[in-house]
Amino acid sequence: MANTILVGAQWGDEGKGKIIDYLTDDADIVVRSQGGNNAGHTIVHGTKKFVLHLIPSGILRRGKTCVIGNGVVVDPVALVGEIDGLRGRGIKVGKNLLLSDSAHLVMPWHRLLDEQREVRKGKNKIGTTKRGIGPAYGDKAARTGLRVGDLLDKDVFAQKLKLRLGENNAVLKSLGAKPIAYQPLLKSYLAAAKVLRPHVTNTVVWLHDTMSRGKSLLFEGAQGTYLDIDHGTYPFVTSSNTTAGGACTGSGVPPHRMDTVIGVMKAYTTRVGEGPFPTEDDALGDMLHGMGREFGATTGRARRCGWFDAVATHYASMINGIDKIAITNLDGLDAVPVIKVCTAYKLDGKTLRHPPTDAAEWARCRPVYRKFPGWMKPTSGVRRFQDLPPNARRYVRALADLTGAKLGIVSVGAAHDETIRL
Ligand code: IMO
Ligand code: MG
Repeated sequence: MANTILVGAQWGDEGKGKIIDYLTDDADIVVRSQGGNNAGHTIVHGTKKFVLHLIPSGILRRGKTCVIGNGVVVDPVALVGEIDGLRGRGIKVGKNLLLSDSAHLVMPWHRLLDEQREVRKGKNKIGTTKRGIGPAYGDKAARTGLRVGDLLDKDVFAQKLKLRLGENNAVLKSLGAKPIAYQPLLKSYLAAAKVLRPHVTNTVVWLHDTMSRGKSLLFEGAQGTYLDIDHGTYPFVTSSNTTAGGACTGSGVPPHRMDTVIGVMKAYTTRVGEGPFPTEDDALGDMLHGMGREFGATTGRARRCGWFDAVATHYASMINGIDKIAITNLDGLDAVPVIKVCTAYKLDGKTLRHPPTDAAEWARCRPVYRKFPGWMKPTSGVRRFQDLPPNARRYVRALADLTGAKLGIVSVGAAHDETIRL
């Protein structure tokens, strides 16, 4: 079985959880390699709905092992909460969950700094999830971070914590925020360490061992291409590499061991948080929100909505090396009579085929649209591509052509079986 990287090809929330769950049938191991509990991956199993933030979606399946790799930033208290929540619902979390000893920890000061920085940015705020993700990766890059491995030795952790807390409390004070007390913090992190200890290992070595035994890996990307710290709409991005390369650096699995890249994209576009979004369309958003769709799984915020942006997905296909695309939420467009797709941008009289690198320029781009007649029929019951209404078939084929990748999966609902495989 092949090793597969799954990435979001838009601004996150593409329906990665549902597709991961679907592909888990063919994989042995599911790996998270970047991001943290800013992610919200929704999986529907029968009448049960699960939202996972840090734990790979494979945890819901018996016989699959889930790995939180070195590239993930882990809030240990939140992770314990997630484990407890799953156990409370009858999901086994034991040897099937591994946590990298070199993953960095999200600390309470990261969350406070995330919040403070957003407040100080005022109307220029990023619209983060306030989970402390940016400051945690900041500490990692500054070489001042604490790692999962540090948690394992009480005395070492106590000492390192004291040092880091001193500096961060000074920063918090200077920003007018309340300092954090040492003892309760130490207690809560050591309590979390006790629960996490049996899961902690050198996941790089473990992954290589398991590959040598012929097992297949599925990399569960979090966020999406345009939230990538290098390739996204900087500064309106998250702080990790959400694109395909992040799967390698965040797991220790080298590029030549990767076989397939799957890009997940909605049949339209959404984004939560601030930043450029040329195809944003409030009327489409009102319609989708009216259907009860497009509310954030992590923060509950109403997502911004717009038409499919093929300039963005084509570029995403290029930088991720997307082999196959999975189109999700096709059923969201079932009642739209005329559907627009952006095929180019206009900026200062010029036609652009690739997004500009500057976010302010990107925000000034005007979409050039191609119009498609809608199918005006429910699609959620369809299981074979040839049974889709002809206009729906034409639409998804055009999305694949414009993106420049093969069509692999079309999703027509949240449930596992509401899926068409090509
Ligand atoms: P999944 O994995 C959508 C967005 C935030 C904000 C920006 C930075 O469910 O697709 P951060 O808290 O990461 O510093 O916020 O990134 N963001 C997401 N948007 N889906 C996500 O994850 C996201 N994770 C972060 O809204 O704009
Ligand atoms: Mg999500």
